[in-house]
Amino acid sequence: MRLGILTSGGDCPGLNAVIRGFCKYAFNNIEGVEIYGIEEGYLGLIEKMYRPLYPADVENILDLGGTILGSTRTPYKQMTVTGNGERTRLQAMVENYKKLKLDGLIALGGAGTHKTASLLSVEGCNVIGLPKTIDNDIYGTDVTFGFHTAVQTAADCIKRIRTTADSHSRVFFVEVMGNKVGWLTLYSGIAGGADAIFIPEISYSEAGLAEYLKKRKEAGCRSTIIAVAEGAISDREAAMNKKERKDYLASVGNASAAVRCATVAELNTGISCRSTVLGHIQRGGDPSAYDKVLSTEIGAYGAQLAKAGKFGVTVCVRGSKLSYNSLTEIAGRTKYVPADSQMVTLAKDIGIYFGEQ
Ligand code: F6P
Repeated sequence: MRLGILTSGGDCPGLNAVIRGFCKYAFNNIEGVEIYGIEEGYLGLIEKMYRPLYPADVENILDLGGTILGSTRTPYKQMTVTGNGERTRLQAMVENYKKLKLDGLIALGGAGTHKTASLLSVEGCNVIGLPKTIDNDIYGTDVTFGFHTAVQTAADCIKRIRTTADSHSRVFFVEVMGNKVGWLTLYSGIAGGADAIFIPEISYSEAGLAEYLKKRKEAGCRSTIIAVAEGAISDREAAMNKKERKDYLASVGNASAAVRCATVAELNTGISCRSTVLGHIQRGGDPSAYDKVLSTEIGAYGAQLAKAGKFGVTVCVRGSKLSYNSLTEIAGRTKYVPADSQMVTLAKDIGIYFGEQ
């Protein structure tokens, strides 16, 4: 059996641990298996960039951040348009899949990766997706690998901001990644002891925020930390149509969510506000112990599915068990934070402010 494995989209801690878990299972349990590491994500499949992986290649990579295979972001839309005026990128991938005589392709990635995996699967390639992303937004799985490590990193940063904010009696808006969903901000906000959490699923009131900050000042709170998801928007922004929002963002120099929030809050209250954008620090570094275990299991389980000939699926976590969903069923769907989820409700109950009016 010849299997290809690739890592696609933004990296995250745990990719190498998954590659290792996959390879170790395959080498130990699939007679005569050959594994090709496809380099630079789907680009490697389009351009036939690959190298065989041997047991020695996956030794001592459990802790290693990033991905030994490299990754590129190739937007899903570009996968379906004609390249070089002759064949689509999708066709190129299908052709190379056949030329490499692969019996299966394992794609480690997030939502975009899964869309492409689904397309390849519809074209007759045997594909298995493995759910990677710090955003935790893949539909149909409770958790993705990389998420909890990023939560830890972001929470540690929020905690550090607290000490400097306390020293200077400051208000800080800390921007957390997460693309269009608020999972990472919600978890890291709670774990980092943030006073307020703004996520894309619940738009915050600009007037409400001003009131909240004034009240905290009156109450003598030394510092206020607001964890702001990069996709968070205010009620005023939410009321804008697409064009209005685009124009508005251009008018503020495409300032990020935390910067916009801090600017408006300062304007409305006269209280000096600071913003910090955590950025890619959230994606770098070693996986946590939890993610090392999860990644090892997901990799091994992916190989087990390949051995069993179970393709056209993506691995998911349900409760404490690994299972799988059909690729076509989950592709193009997003797992949002339900605004009325137990976690949000309990966070509100302990006094965390979510931007209410
Ligand atoms: O999907 C992971 C993620 O880190 C998002 O949270 C973020 O919006 C995006 O990738 C950043 O992408 P890039 O590394 O291409 O700037």
